[in-house]
Amino acid sequence: MQFPDYRPRRMRQSEPFRRMIRETRLCTDNLIMPLFAVTGKNVREPVESMPGQYHMSVDHVAKTAKEAKNLAIPAIILFGVPDQKDPLATQAYAKDGIVQQAIRSVKDECPDIGVITDVCLCQYTDHGHCGMVEKGVIDNDGSLDLLARTALSHAEAGADMVAPSDMMDGRVGFIREILDENDFTHMPIMSYAAKYCSAYYGPFREAAHSAPQFGDRRTYQMDPANALEAVREASLDVSEGADVIMVKPALPYLDIISRIREEIDLPVAAYNVSGEYAMIRAAEKMGWLDGTAAALETLTAIKRAGADMILTYFAMEAARTLQSDPSG
Ligand code: PBG
Ligand code: ZN
Repeated sequence: MQFPDYRPRRMRQSEPFRRMIRETRLCTDNLIMPLFAVTGKNVREPVESMPGQYHMSVDHVAKTAKEAKNLAIPAIILFGVPDQKDPLATQAYAKDGIVQQAIRSVKDECPDIGVITDVCLCQYTDHGHCGMVEKGVIDNDGSLDLLARTALSHAEAGADMVAPSDMMDGRVGFIREILDENDFTHMPIMSYAAKYCSAYYGPFREAAHSAPQFGDRRTYQMDPANALEAVREASLDVSEGADVIMVKPALPYLDIISRIREEIDLPVAAYNVSGEYAMIRAAEKMGWLDGTAAALETLTAIKRAGADMILTYFAMEAARTLQSDPSG
């Protein structure tokens, strides 16, 4: 096909034609809304680093989940911001921990929205690392039991799916085992399999009060320069029983999403992280771009790369836009 016989612009000249040949359609079914739960009642405080996002007490979390449900968003993912931290992250797996309370409150108020929980220790440890620390180093194997207990406590509180984000080796298998032993064989695991050590988590760490108090996360999160290793990480998690494989962050790692889509035969999730959100919000505030349009374009690109599910702080806004123009 060559010019002048073939003219790509022919099929681009009108909206009906553009709609007919559109290859990727972002749909509300693809979206997962992250929410931050804090202790207290009737709390809804803006997260400064993420305009439009809030720290919410469980009553507001449930209310927001209902709004998400009314917009046809299939699921939320819960993050807890506890008011107590200690070396053993006890609030991560406490029966009445903040996430466990939030799960119950969402399930009471809005039983049909999917409740996914982030499983990690960094919001709950006083040192802010995702695993246990022994003599200044991360104790991989010593962390597995606490991570598994955290996942189990979420399951017992009524969560529909658990999503470990800690990046300790072997944790998916450990979580699968403890869930199975406790009659949660039906509970799926969404594994943050290829989670990179990224500067784009900056705004989240402010939101979740989870910045490491010493060192960084380079010994457990992946080196941004590596792609083959992402496939190895994903394959490991598949062999340990993962049901969904996540790539995180999303936008700077579209090549990884597309590679995982090709090589791994499981649903793929991508996390459009806090830094990706904050950049668009900041540029929008400066009047430098149209924030909603940039958000929709970004989410479409993430889906085009191969993601089935997109965790995004733009979920509500995107769902509203798609409601008025479902052709994506
Ligand atoms: C904690 C966790 C992080 C995110 C999700 N779970 C931060 C981190 O690893 O430092 C990042 C989410 C975001 O930036 O939106 N394990
Ligand atoms: Zn963590």
